[in-house]
Amino acid sequence: MKKIALALLVTSVGLMAAVNGKACASCHGADFSKVALGKSKIVSAMTHAEIATALKGYKAGTYGGPMKGLMKGQVAKYSDADLDAFAQTIGK
Ligand code: HEC
Repeated sequence: MKKIALALLVTSVGLMAAVNGKACASCHGADFSKVALGKSKIVSAMTHAEIATALKGYKAGTYGGPMKGLMKGQVAKYSDADLDAFAQTIGK
């Protein structure tokens, strides 16, 4: 039993680890080319480094505009390493 519980735990942590870009598409567009809710920058036009700073900053509460609380909810569950890795996959 213990082994099964552990295996389940490891699996769910594994699933949580990678940032799921689909969760972002409803606001930012599938290719991050939309101005989310009329407020955000166009993320696809940002550099990887700017995006990494933004995502980790939202999580830490050190970055953002009037709707930063909303973005914090989007990124708080990920590690900084995951956010860094994801930032490399979007933007330029
Ligand atoms: C419910 C709508 C919504 C969802 C879902 C969402 N975002 Fe955002 N995002 C916003 C808004 C609104 C802003 C601007 C917030 C502010 O005031 O700083 C923003 C800002 C950003 C920025 C910084 C752009 C800037 O203006 O400086 C990045 C990068 C970003 N989002 C990436 C993501 C990623 C990656 C996801 C998915 C994990 C995601 N967003 C999910 C609405 C959303």
